[in-house]
Amino acid sequence: MDKVRIGVIGVCGRGTIANEWKESSRAEVVAGADVKEKNLADFKERFGESTFTTLDYRELVERKDIDAVLVASPDFMHEEHAIAALQAGKHVYLEKPMSITIENCDNIMRAEKESGKKLMVGFNMRCMNIYRTMKEIVDSGAIGQIKAAWVRHFVWSGSHWYFHDWHATKKNCTSLLLQKGSHDIDIVHWICGSYTKRVTAFGNMDFFGGNKPNDLNCRECDEAKTCLAETPHFEHLIQCAKREEVDIEDNNFMLMQLESGVKAAYLECHFTPDDERNYVFIGTEGSIESSERKNKVWMKTRRTNDFRELSNRTYKIKKSEGTHAGADPIITDAFLDYIIDGKQPIASPLDGRMSVAAGCCAAQSMRNGGIPVDVPPVDLG
Ligand SMILES: NC(=O)c1ccc[n+]([C@@H]2O[C@H](COP(=O)([O-])OP(=O)(O)OC[C@H]3O[C@@H](n4cnc5c(N)ncnc54)[C@H](O)[C@@H]3O)[C@@H](O)[C@H]2O)c1
Repeated sequence: MDKVRIGVIGVCGRGTIANEWKESSRAEVVAGADVKEKNLADFKERFGESTFTTLDYRELVERKDIDAVLVASPDFMHEEHAIAALQAGKHVYLEKPMSITIENCDNIMRAEKESGKKLMVGFNMRCMNIYRTMKEIVDSGAIGQIKAAWVRHFVWSGSHWYFHDWHATKKNCTSLLLQKGSHDIDIVHWICGSYTKRVTAFGNMDFFGGNKPNDLNCRECDEAKTCLAETPHFEHLIQCAKREEVDIEDNNFMLMQLESGVKAAYLECHFTPDDERNYVFIGTEGSIESSERKNKVWMKTRRTNDFRELSNRTYKIKKSEGTHAGADPIITDAFLDYIIDGKQPIASPLDGRMSVAAGCCAAQSMRNGGIPVDVPPVDLG
């Protein structure tokens, strides 16, 4: 195969990464499925009037002129969409999180195995220069053997992206520790080269949620001008963030014990005015720390008694063109490399499953007084 013909399920929102394949000589976007006519019309505008569109994703996966499917629908539909595509004999690019329960992830892994098709998880943070730099430093051995990892995630855009639409309920996402956090848990796994085996967590709803009616719309609310759950400037993000149905924790603390013995912490707050991700990895010979805001990584090394020359260093990270700090053009191209040339995928189904599993176990822990929870092994039946 030298050209991958792609169908997209969930064509707007994240589904717009399909635009990256528009100029590629190795891909052609030929079909789209969505639950909204308006979004399908937008898709046709982007990919041409003759592009096949449907409100029923089953019609898309059954098409003979499709080799691969991009699943960019909301998390709670990932299992159904990914399995249907695999069983119809398509390769799959599956957005993170892989799904919203461990069992669902294992079902997807089983379907992938049985189909003989390829599935890559959309962990685009692995393609960001800042995290690639951190991984290279760790892999080089410059800071010795990693023993600790700390991640602070200041989700300034929390009210925008997580509490004004479907993301704000447990039934849709299980926990924001796997919806938002699956990226960060994966980066910890990837850089440390080891998966989480045990977690403990604390978390609450400390800011969002309340007693407003579920159908209250920010555009029609008398309190919109002074509401601290700021109304986003996106047409589809207008549900009140203080509505009754909101039940997902907005202030999360999670501790992880990795299989390798590394201890890791992940802190995720959705109502901070800051907008930052800050990672620290500490090894036996030094540490590295990052700031997404400053686009820098700082490395410090321990000194020995013979006063070895200090090798502290600041890495100013190269900026790349494209969305998500240049990661989206890289990951969409890497999917074609995987399908056409069999190159290593950016992230495997197991990587996707293990970050969801850590997030699900953390949700279980924090809803049961912080008890330690062991990550269950993969069950392929
Ligand atoms: N990797 C990243 O950087 C990144 C960034 C954003 C979102 N995501 C992931 O992408 C997925 C979609 O998130 P989003 O913010 O774009 O959501 P969204 O609510 O904007 O929906 C995306 C699209 O899916 C459509 N859709 C909704 N329900 C559907 C259904 N049942 N069947 C088919 N289409 C359906 C919507 O109409 C929309 O066109 C999520 O799983 C999210 O975690 C990943």
